Amino acid sequence: MVVPFRHEPFTDFSLEENKKAQKEALHQVEQMLGKEYPLLIDGEEIYTDDKIVSTNPGNKEEVIGKVSKANKELAEKAIQSANEHFEWWRKSTAEMRADILFRTAAIVRRRRFEFNAWIIKEAGKPWKEADADIAEGIDFLEYYGRQMLEIDSGKGLDIVSRPIENNRFSYIPLGAGVVISPWNFLFAIMAGTAVSPMVTGNTVILKPASNTPVIAYKLMETLKEAGLPGGIINYLPGPGGEVGDYLVEHPKTRFVSFTGSREVGTRIFERAAVVQEGQEWLKRVVAEMGGKDTIIVDDNADLELAAESIVNSAFGFSGQKCSACSRVVAHEDVYDQLLDRCVELTKELDVGDPSEQNYYMGAVIDQASYDKILNYVEIGKEEGARLVHGGTGDDKNGFFIQPTIFADADPKSRIMQEEIFGPVVAFTKAKDFDEMLDIANNTEYGLTGAIISNNRTHIEMAKEDFHVGNLYINRGCTAAIVGYHPFGGFKMSGTDSKAGGPDYLNNFLQGKTISEMY
Ligand code: NAD
Ligand code: ALA
Repeated sequence: MVVPFRHEPFTDFSLEENKKAQKEALHQVEQMLGKEYPLLIDGEEIYTDDKIVSTNPGNKEEVIGKVSKANKELAEKAIQSANEHFEWWRKSTAEMRADILFRTAAIVRRRRFEFNAWIIKEAGKPWKEADADIAEGIDFLEYYGRQMLEIDSGKGLDIVSRPIENNRFSYIPLGAGVVISPWNFLFAIMAGTAVSPMVTGNTVILKPASNTPVIAYKLMETLKEAGLPGGIINYLPGPGGEVGDYLVEHPKTRFVSFTGSREVGTRIFERAAVVQEGQEWLKRVVAEMGGKDTIIVDDNADLELAAESIVNSAFGFSGQKCSACSRVVAHEDVYDQLLDRCVELTKELDVGDPSEQNYYMGAVIDQASYDKILNYVEIGKEEGARLVHGGTGDDKNGFFIQPTIFADADPKSRIMQEEIFGPVVAFTKAKDFDEMLDIANNTEYGLTGAIISNNRTHIEMAKEDFHVGNLYINRGCTAAIVGYHPFGGFKMSGTDSKAGGPDYLNNFLQGKTISEMY
């Protein structure tokens, strides 16, 4: 019997002992920076000459690690290995696989501050955000382990038999698949998407984001320590264009689980749909993509709650969350007061390298993101929105951008429609609730959204018509918790696979009916 799932508590960094432990862990990790890491294929460590160099976005000179870089030949080797291992792994017991997840969670939990430190260094996450990322990763391990045991118990899978006919229905794994993860939840999403197919009996090729491959290697070390045999999850960092395309198109790839941008996700969706010579199945594709997430603020709302929710959802991890609030639609009667309060709260936020001290906001991930975000600031100005806070950056030592607020944005303008993926939020006003909902729904995305209101009728209207995968009422639109808020989006935000939800593992299973005549 396993104890019921309960989400991993966050670390309270207002306590001196926790601050001290986090600082010590950062020093400890500093002694381990710059090492070389191999690929892991078929349980074998493979070092390549060509390397991905992972650096700290808050301190560009600091090298986190040099990670071997796969090419097509190595991708082929990984696919062969994953397919071979599938033949025995698919027959392993659910209990054995779930136990590997539980042991991995225990190891990460014991090394919490160290894992936080790797994330603070590799993605420039502020302490609170790094800690939440690791907590979510632990949650995925604990939750999916339990979900697998639940599925294996057969509960809820009853079908009907007849006197001379015995019928059984159960789930079996799919095969060898590819997991492609993003850099923004470098531990949680990477770990959750890698272990979910594995615990269901599939084998995996994990291609982590090129910005954050070291933390993915740390997961691989931990899984091995927890008893995962070699070749079940193959670790294959490499360029998305070359290695990613090869893996996605390969006829022996049974499924692709992708989390990342809309651009890459739709490309994968299209390419995976093409049936290649020798392919014996239609590939299963999970594609969780971008967001353009709105908070609606009603005329009778608690404006302090609204302002705090907006600022935290817009600027937590510098707005680099698919769930981040990048649009605010406020009723015209409260618009000015809300905007002023958001600007006041935003002025209090500090920005700097979180490996030096616990700043509220760190750097954005790399030069390309930095340039793209500041370009959107220019677009916003050209489109006629009013810049009321921030809008500047400094990329001398790291990629720092001030939290930025635009007012009076046209709902159809680019800064209100396109995913910026940085600390930029735009406000627009509406005359009544119908107009607010129309504006909230007028993007091609449908990931998260929130309504701050004390009007029960409006809340009910939002429940019916605010078309997002995760709708939050009287809170911000980020920070979904595994097992509590299954996460995934509508429209061009993705396939709505609902990570951390009760039916997520079904994405990697197929139902088999066996009917035997006695
Ligand atoms: P990205 O699409 O640039 O990269 C994601 C992954 O895809 C990386 O591992 C990358 O190397 C790989 N890749 C790139 N080109 C590829 C190709 N041609 N074939 C196969 N793989 C390829 O995204 P990112 O910058 O890492 O992450 C940010 C994006 O992810 C944002 O759009 C964000 O909204 C989205 N995101 C979505 C969710 C969600 O659950 N919906 C969660 C986190 C992030
Ligand atoms: N699951 C993450 C959140 O809810 C993306 O913020």
